[in-house]
Order: sequence, then C-alpha cells, then structure tokens
Amino acid sequence: MAHEAGAPLRVALLGCGVVGSSVARMLVEQADDLAARAGTRLELVGIAVRRPQRPRPDVPVDPALFTADAEGLVTRADIVIEVVGGIDPVRGLILRAMEHGAAVVSANKALVAEDGPTLFEAAARHGVDFSYEAAVAGAIPILRPIQESLAGDHVRKVMGIVNGTTNFVLDKMDATGAGFSETVEEAQALGYAEADPTADVEGFDAAAKAAILASMAFHTRVSAADVHREGITEVTAADISAARENDCVVKLLAICERVTVDGADAVSVRVHPAMVPRTHPLASVRDAFNAVFVEAEAAGELMFYGRGAGGDPTASAVLGDVVAVARHRVAGGRGPGESAYADLPVVDLGRAVTRYHISLDVADRPGVLAQVAAVFAEHDVSIETVSQQVDPDDDGSARLIVVTHRATDAALSETVRALAALDAVDDVASVLRVEGA
Ligand code: HSE
Repeated sequence: MAHEAGAPLRVALLGCGVVGSSVARMLVEQADDLAARAGTRLELVGIAVRRPQRPRPDVPVDPALFTADAEGLVTRADIVIEVVGGIDPVRGLILRAMEHGAAVVSANKALVAEDGPTLFEAAARHGVDFSYEAAVAGAIPILRPIQESLAGDHVRKVMGIVNGTTNFVLDKMDATGAGFSETVEEAQALGYAEADPTADVEGFDAAAKAAILASMAFHTRVSAADVHREGITEVTAADISAARENDCVVKLLAICERVTVDGADAVSVRVHPAMVPRTHPLASVRDAFNAVFVEAEAAGELMFYGRGAGGDPTASAVLGDVVAVARHRVAGGRGPGESAYADLPVVDLGRAVTRYHISLDVADRPGVLAQVAAVFAEHDVSIETVSQQVDPDDDGSARLIVVTHRATDAALSETVRALAALDAVDDVASVLRVEGA
C-alpha cells in the first residue's frame, strides 16, 4: 500500500504482557530515533488487551489507547504487532490486518510453525510484509541473517539451543548433580520455568522454532508436525554424569540439516537432548541463554548467541522488524516473502545420521563383550570406543560404555533394542546421542 510522504505510520499492538509492555515503552521512549531510522514517525494508535481498564503504570502511554476491540484496531493500522501468542483468535486477527493492508510483525512461533504458509500467502496476496524475527531465540538476530545475509550461500546445518528454560535446567543439573524434577522446581521458584513447564520441557517450544529455522534455511516448508521431538523429562542425573565422564554436557538441541537419501537431498529436523563435547561452542552456553550454530558451504561455521526470552530482549527483535517493515512501506515495497522453492522432502528421524553413547550394565563373565560387539556388527554400526568399569564390591556385573561412529538413527536405535534383549545385559542404563563431535 502506498505511503503518503511525511505521514506517520499507524502502529497497533496486540497484547500487552511482558513483551508487549516493553514494545509499547520502547515505541514511546525511542520515538525520535525510530522515526529517524524508519524514515517516518511511528504513531501508536491502540493496544488491544482483554481488560482495557486495568491500570498499567509501567506502560507510559495514554490509557485511552487500550481497547478490547482487537478486530476494529487492526483495520486502522499500517503496522500490526502481535505479541499475544497461541493460534486462535490471533490467526484471524493477523489475516484481517493483512486484508486491510497492514504489515504484520509477530513473535508467535507456534502459529508460524503450525500454519505459516497461510500467513505467507495472505501477506503476498495483499502485498504486505509478515516478519517474525522474535519468534526464534528472542533477541538473537537469526532469521534475517539466514534469510538475507546467507541468501547467496548454501546452508548445510543449523544446530541450536533455542529454549532457555531447558538450558537452565540442564545446566543446573550439570552443576549440582541433582535430578530433573527437583531442578525444575528450583527453576520455577526462580522464575525461569513456567508453573506449567510442558511446552518447554517436552520440547514443543524448541520444535516450533526448529520448524521455522529449517523452513528458512532450506527453502522448504517444514511444520512443527514434521519435527521429531523429545524433551528433557527423561534425562537423569546418571545421563548427566555419563556426559561429564565423557567430557561432554547434555543440551536440548534443535538440529536442522540436509541429508542425502537415495542420492537426493532431503531435510531432517529433530529436537532431542544430546551430549555435546565441552570443547564445542554450544557447550559454553550457560543458564537460560540461547545460541544457534550455522554451517554454510561458503561461510563455514557461524555462531549466534544471546538472550532467547524476556521483555526487553524480545522487544528488541520486534522493533527491529517494525523498523524494517516501516522502511519498506516508506520506500514503497515489501521485504522478502516466503522462499519454499527447493521443496525438499522432510525425512523421519531414522534417516538422520548421528552417534550414540550407550551405558550398559552387563554380566561380568567371558564372552559378554563379544556378544555385545556382535550386536553392533549385525546392525552395521561401528564402535568408536568401548570402556568397562567394574565395581570392586560387586563381583557379578560391570558397566560397559560404548560410543559409536556415525550411523543412521534407525540402525542405532535397533542396536539398542537388540542389546536390551541380550540375556547378558541387565540394564541399558543410559542412551544419549552425541552431536557436535
Ligand atoms: N519459553 C521459552 C524459553 C521462551 O524458555 O526459551 C519463549 O520461546
């Protein structure tokens, strides 16, 4: 939609929680800088909230701007900022805003990962921008670098810690040796984990972000349903200590990579806990921080690090998008839309290539190691290292630790199933994938 020279751009805000409050405050407090950068003033014309009468002393705007009429508000804006979250009714509001010619800036990973194409197609149809940098890894600029800075390169892999809550929990488990449940309780008491932490600890949040990263990196539509997802609820203190003994840490990783299947390119996207060597840059990501490691053919390895959540950090990403879409509006155009031309097949976890670290409690008698080794050989899985620990007080059993070479996840998981069925194996004590080595 053409912009009249000198006229301010009308900005509507949907939602005024932690992120929305920061966005509103920064829009007001930094109005002059934002105008200079965008090329015109950004005028906040309304904030849609459920309870407009509620006092909000931390949001320095005219209280008359608060409204419960989100449907009306989106029809009188040039830029709509959506920081409500969830699928409905937000999806309808965004589509309505676009129909009325507004560009949309959103922080909504769940919606983009579930139904991005509907929004991308609507944005293209109505000639408006749809930007969502804040949806992945909060303040970290990662989508624009992939979409624009790496547009001339060939991304091979994106591997990230994109959920701060789980990183906080795993980092604390590593530091204290405590178990999962008590560490989550501590994280809740400190405000790092939600009262209901399901979306974070079961990996849903990270899977949505992985879908968005993979779509952009590989020019292919990937939805949350395409992502193999394992959370951290099954990670035990024994896993963490096995990782420590292997000079690794356990991280919840979102891994998006190109794989070759039957000689053709495909995409694999997975979220699961994994051992990462302490020497890998992702191992040094502590507390609730996020980081994304990108491997591109020409650029090589790149690492993006920062705060993945919180009001001001997320608002920084939102306002970066607002300035970008305002610039496009002033110049008379729109930024890059969806790029899904490669349309690669998305394969299941079995096709992913990884390594396993397996701890087995076995009977300590002649021939057991040979039986275990035979199971690996039968599944065409090559062993990289094997070590044995014997408890001097226990004369009947031993702990065998096997680290494999790279193999398909299908072959590795079948191997573990077959090992568990051996009479000589008392217990499969821990199985973790090893990444970044
Ligand atoms: N709950 C997320 C996290 C932040 O813990 O990182 C928002 O995506």
